Amino acid sequence: MANIIIIGTQWGDEGKGKVVDLLAEHADCVVRFQGGNNAGHTMVVDGKQIISHIIPSGILQGKTCIIGNGVVVDPLVLAEEIDYIRSMGIEINEDKLKISDKAHLIMPYHTKIDLAREESKGENKIGTTGRGIGPCYEDKAARRGIRFIDLLDPQEFEEKVKKALEEKNRYLEAFFSADTLDAESIINQYRELADKLAPYVTDTSVFLNQALKNNQQLLFEGAQGTHLDIEHGTYPFVTSSNTVAGNACCGSGVGPQAITGVIGIVKAYTTRVGRGPFPTELLDDIGDAIQEKGAEFGATTGRRRRCGWLDMVVLNNSARLNGLTGLAITKLDVLGGLDSLEICTGYELDGNTIQYFPSSLKKLEACRPVYETLPGWEEDISVVRAFDDLPQNAKNYLKRIEELSEIPIKIVSVGPGREETIVLENDFV
Ligand code: IMP
Repeated sequence: MANIIIIGTQWGDEGKGKVVDLLAEHADCVVRFQGGNNAGHTMVVDGKQIISHIIPSGILQGKTCIIGNGVVVDPLVLAEEIDYIRSMGIEINEDKLKISDKAHLIMPYHTKIDLAREESKGENKIGTTGRGIGPCYEDKAARRGIRFIDLLDPQEFEEKVKKALEEKNRYLEAFFSADTLDAESIINQYRELADKLAPYVTDTSVFLNQALKNNQQLLFEGAQGTHLDIEHGTYPFVTSSNTVAGNACCGSGVGPQAITGVIGIVKAYTTRVGRGPFPTELLDDIGDAIQEKGAEFGATTGRRRRCGWLDMVVLNNSARLNGLTGLAITKLDVLGGLDSLEICTGYELDGNTIQYFPSSLKKLEACRPVYETLPGWEEDISVVRAFDDLPQNAKNYLKRIEELSEIPIKIVSVGPGREETIVLENDFV
C-alpha cells in the first residue's frame, strides 16, 4: 500500500498536474490540501487540453477527488469548473468529488481586497493571482472566516456575511475608496451555489481515514511550489498557505504515519510568475527561447513566466523541507537544441560559495549563481519512452541532477501528453 505526496520543488508550475494525472491511475483518491484557484493544472489527454484550478487532476482518471480542509474555495469558480469538466465528457458525482465541510470559502470581498491591495502597492506588489487567496487565509487565521459548513446553514451564513461586511465595507471604502458590497446579493448568489455544491460537502478527514482502513491508496496533490510556502519560501513573495509536504496531513486530516513517499516535481529548468528573487533567472535570448519553446505562460492568469537555469540550491532546499523520496523531472524536451546547459550548484555571496538558501531576501538578492556547464543535445526526445534511448547528454544531465540531489529520479516527462513519459519507478505498483 502506498500513499504519496506530490510537491512542486521550485516556484510552482513544475508540471504537477501531468504527474498526478499519470500516477492517479494507481490511486483510489486524489487529495488537494492547500491553496485554491490560484493553482492551474494543465493536462493533455488524447490531444485535448484540460485546465483545472480547484478540482484535483485525478478527476480525469475517474478517481475520488477530495478538496481538503486546508483548501480555500471560491464556490462560484468550483461550480463553473464542475460544469466545464462535465462538458469535456468527464463524469462528476458525489462519489467522485468530496469537499471538506471545514474548507474556507473565498468571498467576493476577498477577491476585491486582493486586487485593490495589489493595485495600491504599485512597484511593491507581490504579483498575486488576484483570486482572493491571501485575504481568505487571513480571515481563517483571524477566526472570522466562513466555511462550507456555514454555507449549508442559511441563517448562520446570512449572519456571518452581514457581520463580515460591516468590517470589509469600511475597509474597502476607507483604504481603497472602492465600492462597497451588498450583503443581500452575496447571500442570494451563495444560496444558489450552496444548493449546487451541498451534495459534495462532507467530513473528508473521516472519509479519508476510512479509505486508509480499507487499504485504499491516496495521492496528495500539492499546489504552487515549495519556494512559495508562506514560511519556507521567499517571504513576502509567497502564497498564503504551507505548500510543503508536511501540510498534506494537516490540510486533509490524515496522520503522518500514513505517508509512504514524497515525490518532488522538478522542471528541467526554473520558472517563476509574479515578483520575488530568482537567482538563476535568464534575462537574455536563451531565457526568451526557453519561455517560447516551453510555452511558459501562467495557467491561471496567462502571465508570462520568468525563465532560468535549473537551480540545485533550490532543489536541495526542497529535498530537505519536504523529505523527498523521489524526483519527477518535467519538460526535459524543452531544453533540446541548446548547445550547452548550465546547472547552478551554489551561490556566491560576500566572497564565499554557499549551498544553502539564505532566509534574508537582501542576501538572496545579492547571491550570484555558480554554474556547472554540461553539453546539450540536438535530438527531439519527445518520442523517447525508455531512459536508455535518451541521447547520452540528456542522460548525463539527469544523472548529474541525481548526483547533486542524492535523490533517485523516478519519472521523466518529455512532452505534455500522458504517454510522453519515461517511468523508471512507480511508487504505486
Ligand atoms: P496568491 O497565491 O494569488 O496570493 O499569489 C502569491 C504568489 O504566488 C504570486 O507570486 C503568484 O504568482 C504565486 N502563485 C500562486 N499560485 C501559483 C501557481 O499555481 N503557480 C505559480 N505561482 C503561483
